[in-house]
Amino acid sequence: MNNVARMKKTAKKFVIANWKMHGNLEQNQSLLTHYVNQLNSLKQTQVVVCVPYPYLSQVQSVLEHTDLAWGAQNLAKNLNGPFTGEVSAEMLKDFGCEYVILGHSERATAYCESDENIAQKFMMAKQHGITPILCVGETLIEREAGVMELKVGKQLDTIIDLYGVDVFNDAIVSYEPIWAIGTGLAASPLQAQAMHQFIFDKLTQSKEAQKNRVKILYGGSVNPQNALQLFKVENIDGGLVGKCSLSAPAFEDICQAAELSVG
Ligand code: PGA
Repeated sequence: MNNVARMKKTAKKFVIANWKMHGNLEQNQSLLTHYVNQLNSLKQTQVVVCVPYPYLSQVQSVLEHTDLAWGAQNLAKNLNGPFTGEVSAEMLKDFGCEYVILGHSERATAYCESDENIAQKFMMAKQHGITPILCVGETLIEREAGVMELKVGKQLDTIIDLYGVDVFNDAIVSYEPIWAIGTGLAASPLQAQAMHQFIFDKLTQSKEAQKNRVKILYGGSVNPQNALQLFKVENIDGGLVGKCSLSAPAFEDICQAAELSVG
């Protein structure tokens, strides 16, 4: 069993770096080297680095003999074929990806990704042994109208209706209020707690689901100041980190907060 597989079995928290469309070969090398030096000895926390496709080979070569794992930020819903610009699950496997972010609101909005599309991608990842990191969350208007659970419930139900609730076993869901992403305005621990409880209750009804429990992360302006408070909340199993993952010291502080939150 390699290091990554060993970590995953015991990790209590996950901190996932979402680089979005940032980086270049030189900067990445330095950031990844810092990550390894600072984070390779964490005991309770699995760190995952999700990079743009062209850098998968680089991230693989820097992280492959460490406890840090890596992944992509999207995959195609099809296996292969005439789909110009798409990248398949098998291609991600060629570069050792164990994780893939799916349904991020930045993609869903800009590229009109429907819940059904995202559900197909979720299944494609599962079928290839790649852990899906499914992003769900509401807009500010939806929160102000009090329909945030309806919105998140529908996003989850699209997958449950197609494939059954057990497809979430060992998967990751990231609650990402759209109003909190990149705004500096994170959800309060109370707001996050309520939504995480809702997601937890929905996805852990069967005995099987309780045994292979889905991890539920929080994403949206996680930073070194708010991370510990958020990660201590019941049913918050870690974070999906955008902006602060591009700074080695900030990302280290967030990962240390995850480690501390386990106690
Ligand atoms: P942010 O991004 O940390 O920059 O708010 C989070 C995300 O997009 O998942």
